[in-house]
Formats: sequence, C-alpha cells, structure tokens
Amino acid sequence: MSDDIKKGLLGIVVDETEISKVMPEINSLTYRGYAAQDLCARCKFEEVAYLILNKELPNKKQLKQFEKEETKERVLSKTLINVLKQMPKKSHPMDVARTVVSVMGLEDKETKDNSSEANLRKAMRIFAKTPVALAAFYRLRKGKKIIPSKKKLTFAENFFHMCFGKVPNKEIVKAFDVSLILYAEHSFNVSTFTARTITSSLSDIHGAITGAIASLKGPLHGGANEEVMHMMKKIKKPENALKWINKALDNKDVIMGFGHRVYKSGDSRVPTMREYFGKVSKIKKDKVFEKIYEIVEKVMIKRKNIHPNVDYPTGPTYHLMGFDTDFFTPIFVISRITGWSAHIMEQHAANKLIRPLASYKGSKHRKVMQLNHR
Ligand code: ACO
Repeated sequence: MSDDIKKGLLGIVVDETEISKVMPEINSLTYRGYAAQDLCARCKFEEVAYLILNKELPNKKQLKQFEKEETKERVLSKTLINVLKQMPKKSHPMDVARTVVSVMGLEDKETKDNSSEANLRKAMRIFAKTPVALAAFYRLRKGKKIIPSKKKLTFAENFFHMCFGKVPNKEIVKAFDVSLILYAEHSFNVSTFTARTITSSLSDIHGAITGAIASLKGPLHGGANEEVMHMMKKIKKPENALKWINKALDNKDVIMGFGHRVYKSGDSRVPTMREYFGKVSKIKKDKVFEKIYEIVEKVMIKRKNIHPNVDYPTGPTYHLMGFDTDFFTPIFVISRITGWSAHIMEQHAANKLIRPLASYKGSKHRKVMQLNHR
C-alpha cells in the first residue's frame, strides 16, 4: 500500500476542536481545559455535561437551571413506550438505544432546525430521555414494570432507580458518576467522527447520534467494556488468569480493554476508574475480578507493552454494580451523548463536507456486455 494512504486516518488531523484534548504536559485528557480526573474529584456528572455542552463550568444558578431542564425532560411519549414494549426482548440494548434516538427524531418538533440554539435544546432532550428509555427496556425485557423517573434524584441516582427500583449507597453512585464523567468526551474517536461526518452533510442531531451509537457498539470502540466482562467471566477464577492470557497471546488474539489509538503508554482515565473499581470491589466484598484484572494487566504490559484503556476497569465495575453485561455500552452512550452533541454543534458552526478520497485498486475500464452475451 502506498505511503500516501493513511488507512484508518492514522495520524491525520482533519479539523480543529475546542472541546477536549489529551494534554501530554499534564498526561491527561482534558475537557475544555480541565483535567478529567480533577472534574471527577470536584464535580458531579451534571456539571461536566454542562461544561461540555456550554463551554464553561456552571455556577450554582446555571446548574440549577440545567438540572431543572434535564429533569423536566425525563419522560417518554406514549409512542416511544409502545415502541419499547414491541421490541424483541432479545434485542441488544445498543440497537435499542439507536432505535429510540431515531424515534425521538420523528417526534421532535425541531428536528429540521440545525441552529445551535435548537441543537442545544434537542441535545438536552436526547440526553435526558435516552437513559429513561434504556432503563425502561432494562425492565421490560425482564417482564418487569417500567419505573418512572424521579425529579429529585441526580442523573446517576435516577438511572439506578429506574433500572433497579432503588439507589445504592453514595460510594457506588459516585463510582458510577465518575465513569460517566470519564466516558463523556474524547475528541475525534470513531463514534464522534461518525457523528461529525453525518453532520457535515447538514443532517440533523438525531441522525448523527443514531449513527454514533451504531459506531460505539463495535468491540474495537465502546463495545470493549462488554467484551472485557465476557473475558473475565471466561477466566472465572484468578488461578486461571495467567494460563488464559498467555494462551490468548500465543494465539495472537486481540485482548479487549487494552490498547488505544491515542494513548500508547497508558490511558489517562484508567488510574481514576481503577481506583473506583477497587472501591466498588471492596464494598461488594468481591475481589475476584480485581485479582484477574491485575494478572491480565501485568502480562499484557510485560509481553506486549500494551496498557489498559478505560473500558478495562469500567466493565467489571458495572458488573459489580449489578448491571447486565449488555448494558455496559449503553451506559457509555448516556454519557457520550454530551460529547457527541458538542461536536455536532461545533461541526455545524464551521462546517465543511467530510469527503476523503480513496486510491482505486479495482478493475480497469471494461465494456458492458448485454445480458445475453455475459
Ligand atoms: N491486544 C493484543 N494486541 C493488540 C491490542 C490488544 N488489545 N491492541 C493493539 N494490539 C497490537 C496489534 O495487534 C498491533 O500489532 P502488530 O503491529 O503486530 O500487528 C499493534 O498492537 C498496533 O495495534 P493496532 O490495532 O494497529 O492499533 P490501532 O491504533 O489501530 O488500534 C485499538 C487501537 C483498536 C483500540 C486496539 O488497541 C484494539 O483493538 N484494542 C482492543 C479493543 C478495545 O479495547 N477497544 C477500546 C478502545 S478505548 C474506547 O473506545 C473507549
């Protein structure tokens, strides 16, 4: 392949952004200049969502207004509830997420309006309603009744409430909140680039987020947090871990939850999520996955010099919290809606159709023969 071809757009800078950056000088992912781990320490997810969407951290009054708007939108139309009830129970929740955002686009009065004001309002509706729809599906597929959202609960608390009918202790909620903060935004990753590409034809936010969800589902991207859990379940016991990982590496398997296009010596989000994984393991009095985690990580670094990405600690953390494995990537969705929406607005504000070129390797020019001559 010619050196001119940058397969996978490797190393190509395609546009400018003000939303996030991995800053090597502080070895951290930053959202609008703030280190993600500092945001985890000092903010709740709603403040970070506000920051990503509105460019600045909110003051008390702005946060209150934001929360008021978000909690007001935590409802679904009758149509959407009926759609959810008719979905096959075996549907992957990522496909459900993609479908519900698409249905919201049919219902939204402002679907066609791509102004930044309308996009911010639509982003808020998608942000508030998607977790409600996903939690409803979580219940429906188990034959359980939908639990209505509660306005007085935080975004994170409300998700637990709608899925399980109760809110766990503060440390568990904080660990979940931290995972949402860490998942909220990461520049031109594949799902965000998908959203920006869809937007670049002047399409709408519901379409762009629907496409982004489809992109996030893949195991090389967001779907990795589910794959990590499948791997850990397969390993089952710490005693099996060493043999399992060595065999997988001998087979040249790709180990999910490891490696990253941008970070080559470790994902800066991992230490924070790792810490909360430890806290949740302690609370749940279950250290099995932590032990497996450490053995697999050690071998990956020693044999391949490949470090974990954020999906590695997040997968088992969600498992310990009680979520079904196929709900891990949908949780990523409810957070990343903030980042995608900000990028969609940024793309609209300074748009250029995204249309790369390809090097043609197909047949030379040929004559079309009539059907009876072929
Ligand atoms: N396990 C084993 N080998 C790996 C892994 C891994 N997880 N990641 C990279 N490698 C190897 C590749 O096989 C390749 O080796 P080679 O040069 O001998 O062929 C080399 O490291 C470079 O890897 P690439 O896949 O070319 O790197 P790229 O930047 O294209 O891929 C990716 C990054 C897709 C994330 C890759 O590391 C991977 O497949 N990881 C597993 C899936 C995963 O965890 N994805 C989540 C990413 S984070 C997120 O989306 C939130």
